[in-house]
Amino acid sequence: ANEGMWLPLLVKRLNEADMQKMGLQLTAEEIYSVNQSSLKDAIVSLGGFCTAEVISSQGLLLTNHHCAYGAIQTHSSVEQDYLSDGFWAKTKADELPNKGLYARFLVRMEDVSQQVLAAVKEGMSEEERAAAIAAVTKTLSEQAKGNSHYDVVVRDFFHGNEFYLFVYETFTDVRLVGAPPESIGKYGGDTDNWMWPRHTGDFALFRVYSAPDGKPAPYAAENVPLKPKHHLPVSLQGVQEGDFAMVFGYPGSTDRYLTSYGVKQALEQTNPTRVKIRDLRLKLLKEDMDKNKDVRIKYASKYASVANYWKYFIGQSKGLENLDVLSKKETLEQEFTTWVNASEDRKKQWAEALPLVQQSYEQSYEANLSYLYLAEAALGTEIIRFANTFRSLETALMSTETDQARIASLIASLQERTSSHFKDYNAPTDRKVMEHLLRLYYQDVPKKDHPEIFQQVEKKYKGNFVKWAADVFAKSMFASEAATLAFLQKPELKKLQADPAFAAASSIINKYNKEIYPRMQPIQAQREKGNRLFVQGLRQMQPDRKFYPNANSTMRLTYGTVGSYAPRDGVIYSYYTTMEGVMQKKDNSDPEFAVPPKLDELYARKDWGPYANSQGELPVAFITNNDITGGNSGSPVLDGKGHLIGVAFDGNWEAMSGDIAFEPQLQRCINVDIRYVLFIIDKFAGAGHLVEEMTLVYPDKDQQ
Ligand code: ARG
Repeated sequence: ANEGMWLPLLVKRLNEADMQKMGLQLTAEEIYSVNQSSLKDAIVSLGGFCTAEVISSQGLLLTNHHCAYGAIQTHSSVEQDYLSDGFWAKTKADELPNKGLYARFLVRMEDVSQQVLAAVKEGMSEEERAAAIAAVTKTLSEQAKGNSHYDVVVRDFFHGNEFYLFVYETFTDVRLVGAPPESIGKYGGDTDNWMWPRHTGDFALFRVYSAPDGKPAPYAAENVPLKPKHHLPVSLQGVQEGDFAMVFGYPGSTDRYLTSYGVKQALEQTNPTRVKIRDLRLKLLKEDMDKNKDVRIKYASKYASVANYWKYFIGQSKGLENLDVLSKKETLEQEFTTWVNASEDRKKQWAEALPLVQQSYEQSYEANLSYLYLAEAALGTEIIRFANTFRSLETALMSTETDQARIASLIASLQERTSSHFKDYNAPTDRKVMEHLLRLYYQDVPKKDHPEIFQQVEKKYKGNFVKWAADVFAKSMFASEAATLAFLQKPELKKLQADPAFAAASSIINKYNKEIYPRMQPIQAQREKGNRLFVQGLRQMQPDRKFYPNANSTMRLTYGTVGSYAPRDGVIYSYYTTMEGVMQKKDNSDPEFAVPPKLDELYARKDWGPYANSQGELPVAFITNNDITGGNSGSPVLDGKGHLIGVAFDGNWEAMSGDIAFEPQLQRCINVDIRYVLFIIDKFAGAGHLVEEMTLVYPDKDQQ
């Protein structure tokens, strides 16, 4: 029953009874309601990439350290290294604003499938269908928005078979309040990433600010801490094997209805290619980061995100193979085909579903390879990615119709981009990346899909990528902040187009946009149609199965229990870890496993305060069988009363194929125990005033 990322709107109909049987003491209305405050009012999408939850009446937000990593890194320098030392605002005035970061609350959601699908007519081409849906979606969104300050979006579910509308309120003044040092917040580093048993205090705190009237407002000194509709009570009760647990958040994407053809492509092409390019990029970045602390801080966040999905793709392939996902998918597809062929009516509706998908994958290998090299190698080279952002300026300068206001606003935004780009940039590192990644692109992608610029490299540089990159970096303004800003003072089209990094970026992007994408687009449209029909048919074929849609960065709820698992024959992993394990892994000569002296001291004194469990241990992390994915990072783990018991932060190595096929026996959600969070805030950081803001719920003596 634990598989599924459920839409909060449908919990009443689909899950309430089941959840209550498992230990939920709330009603569906207390979880999601538009009329009264409910749990959903305490959960936000953090910047669109993570989840966070409100844990005080003053807008205090809890999320993961790895979700705050970019923000912590941005505020850090060699002189003031919050990554290494942690950051704790002593007072509200010390909290740090974060450009571009938002906290988005869900106001309400609505099933608009009927309205949207009414616009689709028999016999429409895929393009016509998409256009009709876009039009009706736009109208519905405008109606729902009215003249409110809300953001409204309509998203498709079940591969285009259903549509829901979401109304959001977005706060853009979100300040950093506290973060432990990496040696706690990222303890175990990339070695332990995606693995259990885990000993990471992966949490950080922000605060949401509103205008004095309570409405969203950009950062301003007069803004005040948000008064939330709901904040989560924090429980010191702790967890036991078998306890009910639910996770509420914003999972980013899953592909649970992926066909065997898609699994094959992931195994044969997509995953190995991404891993190969990332392997190289990580090696190059690490060389320079290890040599120089300034480079280390500048590249910490970029490195972490490349490394995170590098390991993810390795694990996903391993999982797909070990768990024999391909043949399970094939079995389901055979069953589907037999079912379809059993009636003329079914054949009419769904006979083309799987063949469309199959053909689409078979035809897509070539274009997919080019896409992967564009995304991972070309855009993995920062100067190419950065130069590419100036293409909108090129377009504006080329047109005689562009007005000055448009140009001025483009320049202003490019100036901003320029400073943030160079703040965390080291040109010599990027030059090396360019040499190696673009050479790999040149070698691995068939000649006919090469961007034109590669012919120049052959002619002018005899195919020597070292010389080419050296020349680009010597001559391009995009290698220097001063030169880029000087150009923006008085941008000239000729100068832009003559820039060698810009020329390289244009050549690569044009090759993709003008040749590869047009080849890919009809193939993709076919696949979308095939998938839509397949999922539609599957739901008819299995009328008793409760279907849940793939994650798509909309709010979901998953429920299950706390519990151990058997990773392999003869081994059982306990459902929780403690401070003892932190000390067992300790190795101060290895930055991934160094323990800060203050934590050593607290350990020596066993000074756990009220945060120990009933056996006197300080709990660190625990696992549940909740169904989560990337984007859920930072999500609250709640008990049956809706009290906070942990923060979700990872998945486990044995089930890394989980985004494609959920593994009920093996798949676990890794959470930091809320008592460890409180211990670090209170005892380690001495920020007890933050704990005082929270509504603590003490253990129920009868249950101890
Ligand atoms: N694997 C985690 C996720 O994607 C991120 C963990 C970050 N920690 C790390 N050591 N890189 O949700």
